[in-house]
Amino acid sequence: MNRLADLLATRRQGHALERPFYTDPDIFQADLETIFYREWLFAIPACELPKPGSYVTHKVGDYRVVIVRGSDGEIRAFHNTCRHRGSVLCKAAKGNAPKLVCPYHQWTYELDGSLLWARDMGADFDAKAHGLKPVACRDLCGLVYICLAENPPDFNAFAEVARPYLAPHDLANAKVAHESSIIENGNWKLVWENNRECYHCGGNHPSLCITYDDDPGITGIGLDGVSSGRLEAHVNRCEAMGLRSRFHLSDDGQYRLVRMPLKPGARSYTLDGKVAATRPLGRLPLPDAGPLMKFHYPTTWNHFLPDHSVVFRVTPISATETEVTTKWLVHKDAVEGRDYDLKRLTEVWIATNDEDRRVVEDNQQGVNSPAYAPGPYSQIQESGVIQFVDWYCDTMAARTPALSVAAE
Ligand code: FES
Ligand SMILES: [Fe+2]
Repeated sequence: MNRLADLLATRRQGHALERPFYTDPDIFQADLETIFYREWLFAIPACELPKPGSYVTHKVGDYRVVIVRGSDGEIRAFHNTCRHRGSVLCKAAKGNAPKLVCPYHQWTYELDGSLLWARDMGADFDAKAHGLKPVACRDLCGLVYICLAENPPDFNAFAEVARPYLAPHDLANAKVAHESSIIENGNWKLVWENNRECYHCGGNHPSLCITYDDDPGITGIGLDGVSSGRLEAHVNRCEAMGLRSRFHLSDDGQYRLVRMPLKPGARSYTLDGKVAATRPLGRLPLPDAGPLMKFHYPTTWNHFLPDHSVVFRVTPISATETEVTTKWLVHKDAVEGRDYDLKRLTEVWIATNDEDRRVVEDNQQGVNSPAYAPGPYSQIQESGVIQFVDWYCDTMAARTPALSVAAE
């Protein structure tokens, strides 16, 4: 991976990355090992596990994980591979099971991962030594994060900062009204770069732009943390009502929280700007509080609105394929057809996701050409992209020397 170290050392700051970062399978593998196998990753909203035995499976690179709610109500995550001969244990995307039973020879695990039963393994067999291997797992205000590393980095600092922003949204009392998973034929970093700017919004997102303000003073706070007067006034108004809303970017650049105003008069991401859910998810004192915008690299951005929330998950599939999963959350007691209309709730982001898929795929196609040369980002419109690319390169560079030393 000395080539990677060289590419990182010679990259032009403020410019798009060189072609191999978006196309090379070896760099994709390095991204997995250096970032995705080490960082905390948003996996699912906790409300997807409503009762003991509810489980969801997830795959990140070579790892398969099952996230399950135990009889004690705790959410835990395990490597989804049997401790007998390694068969995948839970094959469905989601389900409910009183015990986790391997489909191969029926070894049977409790919901806390301990091995309950294994037929004909002899008197010397130690069942206690063959429980499922745990994966680090945290439930932050209804958002379940996992970490594949044996020694996960600290999660508490992020949790402490994020909790007061998230708490009023009451995500533990949500339900998934709709979910979509799409594959974008683009590198995961192109997906993020596209997400971190609204330079493209006016030309590509007609329905989103009805309510979402593409003024970079609102959506893209300068690298120096300075924001526009309108954003400042909005944040001050929300804070005065007791809503944590102030712009917060972590020192290492991995996550950011801020509450942004929608266009004047708009309440939610709908075609008429009015609410999508009349039974709100959360307890926000201001109907025009706008979206709480959160991103946490490398897997999630979120929009928490006064009436509903939308959570996004980014999963890298290959150097040129990325899965983007979107879940629309409403209050758990909201009734479809009475409290929300599914089409109205979802149509803006279904269209926006598809528009984003198209621009990311076009971007990838152009980058694949040998004639591609990294161009400059707009300092005015793309400060968020610069921030993401700096985070990526700094994170990779800090960890890559260790990799190349280990390889020698
Ligand atoms: S591989 Fe799971 S029981 Fe044999
Ligand atoms: Fe977009």
